[in-house]
Amino acid sequence: MCGIIGYTGCDKAVPILLEGLKNLEYRGYDSAGVAVQTADGIRMIKATGKVENLAAKAESTLGLYGVCGIGHTRWATHGSPSDVNAHPHMSADGRFAIVHNGIIENYLELKKDLEKKGVEFKSETDTEVIVQLLAYYYDGDVRKSLMRTVARLTGSYAVAVICADCPGVVYAARMSSPLIVGVGAGENYFASDITALIRHTKDVIDLDDGETAEISMDGVRIFNRYGRPVEKKLRHILWDIAAAEKGGYPHFMLKEIMEQPQAIKATIEPRIKNGRVELDDLDIDMSAFDRVLITACGSAYHAGCVGRLVIETLCRIPVEAEVASEFRYRNAVMSEKTLVIAISQSGETADTIAAMREAKKNGATVLAIVNVVGSTIAKLADHVIYTWAGPEIAVATTKGYVTQLVVLDLFAVWAAERLGRLGGEEYDGLIRSIKALPSKAQRALDLSGGAKELAKIYHDRSSMFFIGRNLDYAVAMEGSLKLKEISYLHSEAYAAGELKHGTIALIEPGRLVAALCCCDRLYEKTASNIQQVKARGAKVLALAPESNRAIYGEADYVIQVPDVHPLLFPAVEIIPMQLFAYCVALENGCDIDKPKNLAKSVTVE
Ligand code: G6P
Repeated sequence: MCGIIGYTGCDKAVPILLEGLKNLEYRGYDSAGVAVQTADGIRMIKATGKVENLAAKAESTLGLYGVCGIGHTRWATHGSPSDVNAHPHMSADGRFAIVHNGIIENYLELKKDLEKKGVEFKSETDTEVIVQLLAYYYDGDVRKSLMRTVARLTGSYAVAVICADCPGVVYAARMSSPLIVGVGAGENYFASDITALIRHTKDVIDLDDGETAEISMDGVRIFNRYGRPVEKKLRHILWDIAAAEKGGYPHFMLKEIMEQPQAIKATIEPRIKNGRVELDDLDIDMSAFDRVLITACGSAYHAGCVGRLVIETLCRIPVEAEVASEFRYRNAVMSEKTLVIAISQSGETADTIAAMREAKKNGATVLAIVNVVGSTIAKLADHVIYTWAGPEIAVATTKGYVTQLVVLDLFAVWAAERLGRLGGEEYDGLIRSIKALPSKAQRALDLSGGAKELAKIYHDRSSMFFIGRNLDYAVAMEGSLKLKEISYLHSEAYAAGELKHGTIALIEPGRLVAALCCCDRLYEKTASNIQQVKARGAKVLALAPESNRAIYGEADYVIQVPDVHPLLFPAVEIIPMQLFAYCVALENGCDIDKPKNLAKSVTVE
C-alpha cells in the first residue's frame, strides 16, 4: 500500500528514486511522484498511472538535478488518483515536501484547524495536513517540527521529508507502517522495503514505531519517541538482486509459480532434522491451549482454512479460521488458553495486525507465520515461524501461499506429536511425505500443461465455479481468488455439497466448473456433484490425483496432480490453478503482476 523512498548521496537522485519506485510499484500504482532539492528550491514532478509515466515526464523536465530527494508510488485512499492528489505534497510556503504511506485518521480535524489559521490546501489527501503542520511548527529546526507534527497525528504513517533549508538531509518518521533505512557508502536511503534498495545496499536498519530518523550522505541518526538518540543494529539481507528480478520470465508471477519447489524446500529443509520436525526455538506448551484461532487476510486466510483442517485432524483440538477484518471486531471468546495463529506474507497487513493486538489484549498467545523478517507482525507476535519463500513481487501471491501451507503442515505435525496424538509409523510417514513435497510440487508443475489449453478455450467466459469438499474446498477458495484477482473473470468457490442449495441455479450449458477431487475419502461425494452440474450442461475440469483413473469417466477435462499424503495435497493441487489463472490473464491481456485496484501489502484498514 503505497511505496516510499528517500535518497541522499552524491549521485543524481531522480534516476535512483525512479528505479526504487519501479521496484516498489507492487505496493500501489495509480500515480507516482518525486521531489528533489535543487539550487532553486524543491522541484517536484508527478504523474498519474504507472511509474513509467513519471519516468517519461522526468526525461522531458529540465532542472531535476539534485542529489537528495524523495519519491512515492500511490494506492489511493483519500482522493482519486490524480496529479494533485499524488505525492509528494508540498507545504504552502514551498519549504517542505513529503511522501507518506498510511492513513491519518484525524486529518479532517487537523485540516479544519489549519484552515482557520489561513492555510490553503490543494489536495483531497490526508497527507497534506502533515506537510502543512510541519511548516506551521517550523522555527528553523526540522526535527523538532517533525516531532511536534507526528505527536498530533492519529493513525498510521511512514513519512519521508525534505526541507529546502537543509540540503542533503532526508527526515523520516514511522508509526504502524513499514520503513527501513538503507545504509550505503557515501549515500543513505529510506524505503518501504528492501526491494527498492537491494541494487545499492544489503545493510538495513529497521525503524520502530515512534522513531524518527535523519539521513545525510555520510550519516544516519535515529531518535526515539522522546527525541533521544538511539543505537540500532544493522541487518544484513541474505538474498541477492536476482531474487528480486524476473530472471528471464515475462512476469514475476510466473517466476514465483516456478520457484515453488525451491521455496517449499527452503521452508522445510531446516525444520526436519533426523526425521523429526524441529521448529527453531518455538517454545510453546501445546497442552496449555484448549483452542486455536487462525486469522489472516486474502490468500493467507485461505492458507489458514487449510491449516484449520490439518491441525484439527492431527491434534484433535478445536480450530477456527477467520478473516482478520472480521475477527478484530468480533469480540471473540479468547483467554490465555487460546493460541492465535496470524498468517501473513508481508507481515504488514493492517487488519491482521489489529487482530493480533485484540488477541494479545485478551490474553491469548500469538504465533505468527510470516515471510518478511523484521516486519511488524513478526515483531508483534509472541512466537514466529518464517516461511522462507524469498521476496515475492507479484501482487497475487503464489509461493508465499504455498510456503504458508507447508509451515502449517510442519506445525500441525510438531504440535500433534507434542500432544501425544501422533507417533510411530504415522508420524514417520508424514515426515517422509513432507520431505517429498518439493519434488511433488515440481511434478505438479510438469503435469499442468493442460491449464494453458483450457485458458485458451475459457478465457472469455463471464464466470466459472470451483467446487470441492474439505481440504479441496479450502484450496478451491484460493484457486477462485487467483483467477478473479489477475484475470478479472468472475468466479466463485463453493463447498461441493452446498451447490444444490442455491448456486446450481447459475449452472448453464457451457459453464466451466473446476471440480477439485484430491480428497480421496470424499471422492464419491464430489463425483455425484460433478454429475449434478453436468446434468445441467456444465463442462467439468477435474483436478485429481494421478492414481485416480475413475475420474476420466466423469469429467470433460482432467488435470492430474501427483499423489501425496491426504493431508498435504493442497500444496500441489493449487499449482495447476495458479497456472490456469495466469494463462487466462495472459489471454485477456491483463497486467498480471499489478492487477487493477489491488496492492500487495495492505497497510490500511
Ligand atoms: C492483499 C494481497 C493478497 C494477500 C493479502 C494478505 O490483499 O493482494 O495477495 O493475500 O493482502 O497479505 P499478507 O501480506 O498479510 O499475506
